[in-house]
Amino acid sequence: MRVQFTETVLRDANQSLMATRLPYSDYEAILPTMDKAGYYSVECWGGATFDSCLRYLNEDPWERLRKIRKNMPNTRLQMLLRGQNLLGYKHYHDDVVEKFVQLSIKNGIDILRIFDALNDFRNIKTALEATKKYGGKNTVASGCISYTQSPVHTVQKYVEMCKELQSMGFDTICLKDMAGTMSPYEAEGLIKGIKDAVGDMPLILHTHCTTGMAYMTLTKAIESGIDVIDTATSCFSNGTSQPATESMFYALQQYGIETGLNERAINEVNDFFKPVKQKYIDNGTLNPKSMGTDAQALVYKVPGGMLSNMIANLTDMDAMDKFDAALAEIPAVRADMGYPPLVTPLSQMVGNQAVTNVLVGERYKNISNEVKNYFRGEYGIAPAPVNKDLEREILGEGGKPIDCRIEDSKRTGEDFSNAEQELGALGRTEEDIMSYICFPKQAKDFLEKRKADEERICSYTMEAVD
Ligand code: CO
Repeated sequence: MRVQFTETVLRDANQSLMATRLPYSDYEAILPTMDKAGYYSVECWGGATFDSCLRYLNEDPWERLRKIRKNMPNTRLQMLLRGQNLLGYKHYHDDVVEKFVQLSIKNGIDILRIFDALNDFRNIKTALEATKKYGGKNTVASGCISYTQSPVHTVQKYVEMCKELQSMGFDTICLKDMAGTMSPYEAEGLIKGIKDAVGDMPLILHTHCTTGMAYMTLTKAIESGIDVIDTATSCFSNGTSQPATESMFYALQQYGIETGLNERAINEVNDFFKPVKQKYIDNGTLNPKSMGTDAQALVYKVPGGMLSNMIANLTDMDAMDKFDAALAEIPAVRADMGYPPLVTPLSQMVGNQAVTNVLVGERYKNISNEVKNYFRGEYGIAPAPVNKDLEREILGEGGKPIDCRIEDSKRTGEDFSNAEQELGALGRTEEDIMSYICFPKQAKDFLEKRKADEERICSYTMEAVD
C-alpha cells in the first residue's frame, strides 16, 4: 500500500497561517532539498499567492513560478485554480481561462487542482479542456470538490459528483475540506463510497487542522484507501494550516505504508523553515491565534472564518447581543439559498444576510446585491433548489436565473486582446497581460514600478559611465 504527500508550505500553509506573505527569497535556498524529498507534489502557486505577489511582495508571480520550476526540476508543481474565476471571484470568459491555463503550464505547473465554490462543474470545464489541450504527458488535471455539510450533501451526492468528474476526463479527484470540519467517520464513508464508484482513479484529501479533527480524519482516510494527503512541514502545520508532514510520515511508517518520502530531506525542510517562521512571529505577520485549535466550527456548523467575520460585524454595530439569533438564522438562509458550500465568497454572503435579517428584524427586507446576483445565477447553479418565493421576489414574476455559459457564448470580442490594448506598452508579455486581467490595479502598479526601477538603474549606469 502506498500513500503519497503533497507539501503545502509554499502555498496553503503560509496562506492559512500568515496571509500568504512568504516571499520567494525566503525559501529559494531550500528548494533543491525539497526537490529530493519525494513528495507526490509541491503546492506552490495559485490561490492567494498570485495576488499577494503583486499586492504585497513586489514579485512577479510568473517569475516566481519559473524560478521554483528551475530549482525543483524533478518535482511536480501544483496550483489551485478556481475554475472560471481563475484566482478571484469574477467569472472570466473562456479565452482568458484558456490562456491562463496555457501560461501556467508553460511557466512550470504540472498539476492543476481545479474547483468551483458551488461545485457547478460547468465552471471547471474550460480549465479542464485547456489543461488537456496544453498539457504534456505528465500534466495532471485534478477535479476538486468543495466539501461541505448540509442535509443535501450526502455520500451519494458526493459519489455522483466524483463520477461526473471522472466522466469529464479529470485524472484525479480531490476532496477539499477548507473548513476542516470533515470528521473521521465522514471521511471513511465518503472515501469508501467514492473508491467503490470510481475504481483506480487517485483520490486526494485536502483538509485543515482548524477544528482539531484533521489527524483523526487523515488516519481514517488512510485506512479507507486515500491515495494522496496534503500536509505541511511541521513548523508550518496545525492551527488553520494542514497536518504535519513528518508526523504523518512517521505514523505511516508504523502502518507499513510506503510514502516515497526521504526522511532526511523532510526533516531538513522543517529545520530550514523554523527560523523563517520565527521571523514572522516576531514581526507580527504570523498571528499566534492562527496556530491554535478552535472547535467552534464543529459546535456551530459554520467555518471558523465565517464566525469571526460575523462577530466582527456584530461588534462593529454594537449588536453582539444578537449573536445567537444571527447564528440560528444561518441554517435558514443557507436552506433558502439551496445549501451553498460555506466557502468564500458564499460564506460571507450567507453570514451577512443572516446578520441583516436579524438586525432588521424582518427576513429579507434588505437583500444584499451579492445575494441577488446569486439568485440571478451569476455564481452558477445552487446545489439544491432555492426558496421559490424569494427567487420570485428577486427576479420578478416569471424571471429566470441566467445561465452564465449562455452569457459567455453571446459575448463579442476577446477579453484577452482588449486587456492587451488597455495595458499598452506596460504589458510586455502575455503573462503581464494575464496579471493585469486578474488584478488590474495591483498588476498595473507592479508593472509601473518595474518600469520606474529599470529607468532608475539605467540612469545610475549612465552616471557611472560619465
Ligand atoms: Co486549503
